Order: sequence, then C-alpha cells, then structure tokens
Amino acid sequence: MKKPDRHLITSALPYANGPIHIGHLAGVYIPSDIYTRYLRIKGEDVISICGSDEHGVPITLKAKKEGVSPQEIVDYYHELNKKAFEDFGIEFDIYSRTSNRVHYETSSDFFRTLYNKGEFIEKISEQYYDDEAGCFLADRYITGTCPHCGYDAAYGDQCENCGTSLSPTDLIKPRSMVSGTKPVMKETKHWYLPLDKYQGWLSKWILEDHKEWKPNVYGQCKSWLDHGLQPRAVSRDLDWGVPVPVSGAEGKVLYVWFDAPIGYISATRELTDDWEKYWKDPGTKMIHFIGKDNIVFHCIIFPVMLKAEGSFILPENVPANEFLNLENDKISTSRNWAVWLHEYLEEFPGEQDVLRYALCANAPETKDNDFTWKDFQARNNNELVAILGNFVNRALILTGKYFNGEVPEISETDEYDREVLGEIEKLKEKIDSSFDAFRFREALKEAMNLARLGNKYLADTEPWIVIKTDRDKVKTILNIALQITANLSIILDPFLPFSVKKLRTWLNIDILKWEKAGRHDLLKPGHKTNKPGLLFRKIEDEEIEKQVNKLMETKKLNESTGAETEPVKENIHFDDFTKLDIRTATIIDAEKVPKTKKLLKLTLDTGIDKRTVVAGIAECFDPSSIKGQKVSVLANLEPRKIKGIESQGMILMAEEDDGNLVFISPPDKTKNGSRIR
Ligand code: 2FM
Ligand code: ZN
Repeated sequence: MKKPDRHLITSALPYANGPIHIGHLAGVYIPSDIYTRYLRIKGEDVISICGSDEHGVPITLKAKKEGVSPQEIVDYYHELNKKAFEDFGIEFDIYSRTSNRVHYETSSDFFRTLYNKGEFIEKISEQYYDDEAGCFLADRYITGTCPHCGYDAAYGDQCENCGTSLSPTDLIKPRSMVSGTKPVMKETKHWYLPLDKYQGWLSKWILEDHKEWKPNVYGQCKSWLDHGLQPRAVSRDLDWGVPVPVSGAEGKVLYVWFDAPIGYISATRELTDDWEKYWKDPGTKMIHFIGKDNIVFHCIIFPVMLKAEGSFILPENVPANEFLNLENDKISTSRNWAVWLHEYLEEFPGEQDVLRYALCANAPETKDNDFTWKDFQARNNNELVAILGNFVNRALILTGKYFNGEVPEISETDEYDREVLGEIEKLKEKIDSSFDAFRFREALKEAMNLARLGNKYLADTEPWIVIKTDRDKVKTILNIALQITANLSIILDPFLPFSVKKLRTWLNIDILKWEKAGRHDLLKPGHKTNKPGLLFRKIEDEEIEKQVNKLMETKKLNESTGAETEPVKENIHFDDFTKLDIRTATIIDAEKVPKTKKLLKLTLDTGIDKRTVVAGIAECFDPSSIKGQKVSVLANLEPRKIKGIESQGMILMAEEDDGNLVFISPPDKTKNGSRIR
C-alpha cells in the first residue's frame, strides 16, 4: 500500500455495563494506544476513536435487576470507564457514547440509506410476546425449564446450569421475565442484511486481498466464509436502542451490533467537521483494534454494511488479539475474577506504566495468555527497575556528578563505542517493521534491548572507575549513554508515556520525533540535564502476596456460592455409563511429543495390553517422574491420531485448588486391568 494520507484508529466500544479490567486493556486498548502514539510521534495525521457501547439487552437486564433506568446504568459506567482510560494514558481523541444525539442521527441515516437502496430483506417470523406487558421478548427475557437438565431458571438463549445453548421455543413452561406470565407466540417483522449476497465479494476482499491479516483473524474469517453466510437480522423488538427509522417499525430498535460500529462514525462526526475525509477518502488507512470475540462483526458484518452503503472506506487491517487469562483462569466479571483498573490504581498509584509494560510484554497477540502477579513483579523488578531504570539513572546521575549535569563532548571513540553507536543506528528499522506487522511485543522487546545495551555498556566501561584516570574517556562514555537515553525517550514513548515524560524532564528536552530515532547527536554538548528521580521502584513480595491473596479470597467466596464449579452436564442414561470401560493401569514409559508444549506420549501397562496414550499434561509433569505411576484409563475410547501418534485411550485427571493437574490414581495394590466402576 502506498503511504496513507491519514490514519483512522478505532478501538472496540466497550459496553457501558461494567468496569474495565486488564483483559480489556491487554486485548484492545493498550495495543491501539501504542499504535496511535507511534503514529503521532511519527508526525502522521491520525485520530483515535472510542466510546461507550450503550445499547443491547444485557444493559436493560442490569437496569431491571438494579431497579434503575438503562440510561442511569450507562451514565455511570460511561464516566467510570472514560476516567479509567484517561488514568492509564489511553489517549483517545474522543471517547463518545452511542446514546447521544449524533449517534442516533448517524445510525438512523445509515439504516435509511440501506433501506432506500433496497439492501434489506424484510421477514416475518414468530416470536414470544408478553401480552400483559405488551412487548416482544428478547431471548434473555424469557426463562423456563431446560429440556436437557431440568433446571427451572434457564434463559431463552442458554441454560446456565448445563451450558446448552437454547432457543426460546426449547424451554419447557416459558415465563416472561418482564411480567412473570406465560408468553404467547406472535408474528413480528424484522429487517435482515443479506450477508450471503456479499459472500463472493468478501471472500475475495479478505481471503485474497488481505492475506497479511493475522492468522487468528484470517482463520476465523475463512471459517465463517467456508460455512456460508446467511442473512442476519439487524433489528430487535426492544424499547432501548435506536428506533428503526422507517414507518411500520414501532417498538423496534436497531440491533446493537448494527448500531455499535456505526458509533465509530458518529464519534468521528462529533470530533471533527472534517469527518468525511477520514471515512470516505481512500487515502485513509482505517484499523480496527478489537478482541477475538468481535472478529465476525468487524471483518464481515460491518464491512458488508459499509460496502452496501457505498460511500465509505473499508478497514485496512483488524489486528484482533486473543484473550488474557488471570492466574490460570478465565477473566470473568460475574465471578469477580479480574484486576479492575480503578482498583489497580488504588494499590499501585502512579504506576500505570508498570501495568502497561507487563500487559504489552505478555500480550495475547497470537494465542491466549496468562497474567500472573508474579510475572508482573518480575517484569517490573528484573526489567523496568534493573535494566531501564538503572541505566537511565546511572547515565544522568553520573553526568550530574562529573559534569555538572552538562552533556559532555564526545572525543575519541574506540571499537566498543563504535559498535554501540552502530547498534543505535540499526534500531529504528527493526522497530518500524514490528509496528508495521502489529507485533507490539516484539517492538517493545527491541526497544528494551536498547536499554539493555546501554546498561551493559556502562557496566563494561565502568566510568565511575575510569574517571580517576581518564576524564576524556568518561566524557565519551556518558555522551553515548545520554544519546541512548534520548533515543529511549523516543522509542519507548508509545509504550511507557508516563515514564517517558519524566525522562524528557530530566533530559530537559521536548518531544523528539520518531525520525530522529537511531541518531547519536540528539543532545548537543553543553546541553544541561536535570537531576533525575527514580523511574521505577522495586515491588516487594508482600505487595504481590496481597494481590494473590485477594484473588484467593474471591475464589473461596465463589466456591462457597457454587460460582466456581462447572455446572453438571446433561443427564445420561445408566446404559451410557456402562459403555465406559475404565481400567487401572501403570505408566511404564513417558516422553515429550516433539515440537509440542503440552503433549506427553505415555506407554501404559493396562493388564490387557501395552498401549500408547497421548495426554496433554507435559506442562504439569516431567516424563521421568511419572514412570511407575498408577493411573485410571478410559480404555475403550476410539483411538485417534494426535500429532501423528495413535492415542489409544484417555488418562483421567482432576484439578487441584491451584489449577494443577493430578492423576486419578488407584491405590498401589490395585492390579492393572482391574475395572473401575
Ligand atoms: O464486545 C463488546 O464489548 C462490544 N461492545 C464491542 C463493540 S465494538 C463496535 F462495534 F462498537
Ligand atoms: Zn440445562
């Protein structure tokens, strides 16, 4: 692609029905902020758009549960989340909201344009209706008995007891959650976007023209396209949302996933009169930052909407991240298993950059990743404090001590100095190419490598010793160290904005543009630097224990209320149970399956035969430690090939409190082959 004239960065609009946690930050907002800051320091024309997604059934349900209006819910969380982003230095040009007037106008106009172009299909279908309340019922507003497990408070879209996904008509004895009465079936009309009509166009646009998209994004799109697209309803019977702006649509609103992405356009309109330049001129490069659960909406449905409308540009890339787990468990709002941003700041005031750093260094860019407090501490103590902070502090303190804070002149350079200067020069290109591929972890690592280099350079050249014998040499060393520090103030700017601001004050410089990165004449001899403070402080074990304990308390509480335990699966017949042939066996050999992280190839003595079983337990056990281990094995599981190895059964495992896997191990005296029933 030729160099764009401008950039439009959008970040998924979070629902305004709960606070922001580290999963949101790592998945969407840190990457989008890093990228935007990178473009800004490069001097590009860029705007970054975000805001609250304020429609949808979960918001109305929450309001009902709390006995307040949906508007009150979204007003509260909009302000809370807006502040949380500001506090963490996530610099949106606008943090708008989808309940405001400009959004109603923009999304209504958008719908009307498609409607007038004949882009929708109108379909009449039967849906549950609450006669007493006089309204149609969204799936979540209907409750009843699950046909699978008999649970009597299943929802119309899912049974939370057995996990089965349902449609409202599956429920036995359905009840309306609005009035408690039995709903009736009634015909209702909705508007559908015929995604199938765009299947050919989408296949070419994504699968041929955007092969460079991240594999997780490309793969998900391909799978949707391979399955064949179907028309999607873009309206709902609900009283909270943007009313469908055509006649004969009373009581109907736009489906939240129709109006939310249009929210990006509305927010841009609110930000600038020049909004059309960003949305309609092909010189704009639009990038959507989202989490993996939003891929279909941003790569398939919204592009179809834009294409059908006809006057808008399409996204150039959609670098969706995978999910972040917390201490080996899925982040969950309902189980309070999260680190909330406002709570983090209460515990670590002023230390936003530490979290930004830890989340970027461990970002779920290619696969789900885990946040642990131990890793957070290690990233801070071993990297930010020991490398970056230490280096910057030494460079500035020594300059203060030996040269009254003035940048010394560089005199003669030796081979080592020249090697270091050469490394500085190479830096920019490497980081640029990581940014171009949306590989921010890699970019951060490269940037930190410069601090590593500086740290090593000072440790190797020992200016505090050389000063006694060769003042000129120390001038050269500190000049180079200060040039590295100035470079760090450029290349770390997108990642650690709070720390870089301090760095600039100590270096007594303004923002240096990205194009200057790699140069070693950024600070002129004689330039006065200031006395530095501490960039990062060591985080003590007790602070980490406190956070871990807090989570353990949450887990205990959840366990006592049953929130931690997986719901029981659907009942099975006794005959189904008797089909399982579970035996006692002994592991007689174990080895890692090459090129995998999780798999062990086990040889078992089952008393009947010697057989191979492949088990996903390599992260919990060392192969040599489990030879001789008694295990329970499901012996009649149909064999299947795993990484080219035929696995003939399955070992039974359970989970300990801390998530560790353990064998369901029969007593040693049990003989191999004895049946477990
Ligand atoms: O998943 C979510 O949190 C949605 N509220 C994201 C919407 S993104 C965009 F379409 F607005
Ligand atoms: Zn059920």
